[in-house]
Amino acid sequence: MTTVVREATLGDEEEILELYRATPELHKNAVVDLLDEGERKLAWSDPRKILLVAVDESTESIRGFLYVKIKDRTITEEKARILHVAVRQEDRKFGIGTQLLQECVLRLLKRGDVHTIYSCVNVQNRGMINFLAKHGFKMRELYFRFEADVKKPSDFQPFPLDWWTDFGTDE
Ligand SMILES: CC(C)(COP(=O)(O)OP(=O)(O)OC[C@H]1O[C@@H](n2cnc3c(N)ncnc32)[C@H](O)[C@@H]1OP(=O)(O)O)[C@@H](O)C(=O)NCCC(=O)NCCS
Repeated sequence: MTTVVREATLGDEEEILELYRATPELHKNAVVDLLDEGERKLAWSDPRKILLVAVDESTESIRGFLYVKIKDRTITEEKARILHVAVRQEDRKFGIGTQLLQECVLRLLKRGDVHTIYSCVNVQNRGMINFLAKHGFKMRELYFRFEADVKKPSDFQPFPLDWWTDFGTDE
């Protein structure tokens, strides 16, 4: 099988969404994502977003996609964040994720203003962690995600931190 990577078009929308829905790892992301119609409109038109698909050369069916957003971090620096990358279950480990990532990096190099690409990964997502490490991504920071119900301040109960191990200073 030969797979080629190209920019997504509006005609790819349904197939991308189908793959998105079939990929539970993507549903844990705490970002506005491709199921959101407004976000999708941007994905197709905003030059600060890159949406690529990997397609079977003969059937044109979509085997994977990658969605990257370019974000302002400081006045002088821009970073590209991989929001989603997914390859169909049966097509994994054949280099398709790599093809998508490499094409994206080439496009970023062509732009010339983005020098860092990053991704936030769930600690249990072994596949993605290995994938990123294989491609030279280094782990920079670990985060806990804390959540609270939006309710009256008087109803808040402090959360016990007896499980806490101190990983550093308070600064
Ligand atoms: C991560 C993902 C996109 C990789 O796509 P892929 O086409 O399989 O990747 P490639 O074939 O180019 O690279 C394979 C490498 O990825 C890593 N990898 C992929 N799947 C893995 C798994 N199940 N377990 C461990 N490592 C895995 C390994 O480093 C592997 O290299 P190896 O074969 O030498 O061990 C794919 O596994 C996927 O779609 N996962 C579900 C979606 C997801 O978690 N996305 C990230 C959240 S945004």
